[in-house]
Amino acid sequence: MNMEATIAVLPGDGIGPEVTDAAIRVLDAVTQMYGHRVTYTRHLIGGCSIEAHTTALTDEALEACARADAVLLGAVGGPKWDDPNAPVRPEQGLLALRKGLGVFGNLRPVKPYPALMNASPLRPELLRGVDLIVVRELTGGLYFGQPKGRFVEGGKTRAVDTLEYHEDEIERIMTLAFRLAEGRRKKVTSVDKANVLESSRLWRSIATETAKKHPEVTLHHMLVDTASMRLITSPADFDVVVTENMFGDILTDEASVLAGSMGMLPSASLGAGTVGLYEPIHGSAPDIAGKGIANPIGTILSVAMMLRYSFQLEREARAIETAVHRTILDGCRTKDLGGRMGTQEMTTEIISRLIMVRGIQYGDEVAVRMDEWRAGAL
Ligand code: IPM
Ligand code: MG
Repeated sequence: MNMEATIAVLPGDGIGPEVTDAAIRVLDAVTQMYGHRVTYTRHLIGGCSIEAHTTALTDEALEACARADAVLLGAVGGPKWDDPNAPVRPEQGLLALRKGLGVFGNLRPVKPYPALMNASPLRPELLRGVDLIVVRELTGGLYFGQPKGRFVEGGKTRAVDTLEYHEDEIERIMTLAFRLAEGRRKKVTSVDKANVLESSRLWRSIATETAKKHPEVTLHHMLVDTASMRLITSPADFDVVVTENMFGDILTDEASVLAGSMGMLPSASLGAGTVGLYEPIHGSAPDIAGKGIANPIGTILSVAMMLRYSFQLEREARAIETAVHRTILDGCRTKDLGGRMGTQEMTTEIISRLIMVRGIQYGDEVAVRMDEWRAGAL
């Protein structure tokens, strides 16, 4: 079945434009190969939007994203906008986008490639068999709770953030986690801080309630401090990890160490009946921005997730994943992985393996067509 889609692209700041360009090249290649048609609209978010419009995300950009069939995002932020007293911050754009689209479930899969085990500081025997996915609640919790802000009282400043969850918010993220677990190793670890936080105690009881509706899945509760330790000492024990927004943010940076580099990890943010948002988990990496050396894999794998979750194109998603895997197996490495390849060079290698993957799966006739395509496109 051929698909026609409009994708809203928000490259953002720092290395965002470089990695989204790379991912679009891969998406163009795969859609062309399988006969799909994709058009792009481009919008500002983060620091570049603050420069142009004095806000980190305009209403027009948000509306364009909501109208699109999927959204691809690079990264936001940078030292230029890091003043803690600044009235607007690039990150506000990202939070407004997530909230505005209603993408409450952020999926962050972590499955280290055996060929990259020595890129991780962890011993290979700890990494063997690691295949986990963090389901991070994305539109509630500490990031969004009200009141939030700085208040001056009696000449003294007070700052407040609020950690609040409604049972419906917990239930829908739990349901997403359990559904995912049903298609995997059938194990959900719900991470909270129920020994201290009231919101975590509600989280825990709703996790237990939801588990009753999914009898084939085993539920474990784990405190977030324990989880942060176990992610390093026994990461292979995890299957689906479901957790609060801020806990999920912290644990996924930690989990990226298992994969050898932050640059490797993709994410998909999904909601009910809304457009999906796809972004790498890494930030804008201002130190290497503009140098053409960023690892594009996190964003390229995010595009694979887009094909899978927004367009139900499993075959195309796997083609990208297989091509990335082959590229790694063949020894191609960007700087973060100890190699010398630049962003575009790595992308070209991945695209050429995409062609091989297609050729292998669909026989000679297709391989010939691929040769023609390759001659024109690379
Ligand atoms: C992430 C990032 C963002 C977050 C920042 C940039 C606001 O760290 O996507 O993990 O905290 O959600
Ligand atoms: Mg983060």
